[in-house]
Amino acid sequence: MSHLAVEPVSKIISTISNKGGVGKTLFSIEMANILGKMGKKVLLIDTDINTGDIAVKLGIRSPKTLLDFFEKQVNELESLVRPEYHFNLIPGAGGNFKFANINYAQKMRFIRAFKKIAQKYDYTILDLGAGIDRTTLDFALIADYPIIITTPEDIQSGYGCAKAAAERLIGLNGRLKVLDPDGNRVEEFAPYFVFNKSDKNIAHGIYNGIRRAVEVTRSKYNIGIKPEYLGSVSIDYRLVKRTYVSQHKPISEMYPNSDLGREYRQIAEHFINALYQPQPVKERRLNWLFRIFKDNEELN
Ligand SMILES: Nc1ncnc2c1ncn2[C@@H]1O[C@H](COP(=O)(O)OP(=O)(O)OP(=O)(O)O)[C@@H](O)[C@H]1O
Ligand SMILES: [Mg+2]
Repeated sequence: MSHLAVEPVSKIISTISNKGGVGKTLFSIEMANILGKMGKKVLLIDTDINTGDIAVKLGIRSPKTLLDFFEKQVNELESLVRPEYHFNLIPGAGGNFKFANINYAQKMRFIRAFKKIAQKYDYTILDLGAGIDRTTLDFALIADYPIIITTPEDIQSGYGCAKAAAERLIGLNGRLKVLDPDGNRVEEFAPYFVFNKSDKNIAHGIYNGIRRAVEVTRSKYNIGIKPEYLGSVSIDYRLVKRTYVSQHKPISEMYPNSDLGREYRQIAEHFINALYQPQPVKERRLNWLFRIFKDNEELN
């Protein structure tokens, strides 16, 4: 058997942003539900360790959460899984000091359990908290597809988030002199950008600005970022109120043909059709990071 494996079916997506309240959680829920409606097996995990609120948004009362896993109330992530609409969910928790500051052993235990459960799904989506702290970025870097959500007003911090993640990735690589899954030194962070609360033209304009910023970052700091445009979602407070606020239901469930419903669906379709090309990889990002952390506790 060749040491080159065909890219595993299971895809890992993470949503990140520097700023809070830009729409990561809505995006994560909608992606999970839409990919599920398209027949994919999807697991959504609320990994926002500061203010995990997916359960609140979906009106789920006192569920078992990831906190139970970190506190060793349960040993398997499987026992936290609950079916919601067209996807499976592992709820998170908010406002818990210990959860917000997990240690090295806890992080390793999570990644190990995560490796196991992710295999069972076509897509695993990690909804992360705002910010660029180490735990958040490391969880973001586990993903094959890190997605930066930003609004037009928050673009500075949206870009800052890409730069910080690239720095962490390059730092891990440079310090350890390891190779990435393709056998190269990791020099580029390749995030996908979603522009929320934004019309299409504005989103394209901002994306062009990001591409220019990337050139500056490369020449000035020697940090490589390879951005990819994924889509935009317009603003509609009334629709959000009618769905999430009053009914605790996804837009793709209640109003799939609304503007927002169609925009989220387009992103999911683009994701499935355009971005997925099976290719041989030696080792996926998840395993690679796991190996680095396992051997180098001081990196935590
Ligand atoms: N396209 C949109 N149109 C109108 N309101 C939106 C849109 N997207 C998100 N919102 C609203 O903005 C607020 C923040 O959204 P959300 O919770 O998804 O952001 P977040 O990035 O996950 O926040 P946090 O950083 O706190 O996790 C919510 O009240 C949500 O309903
Ligand atoms: Mg959120």
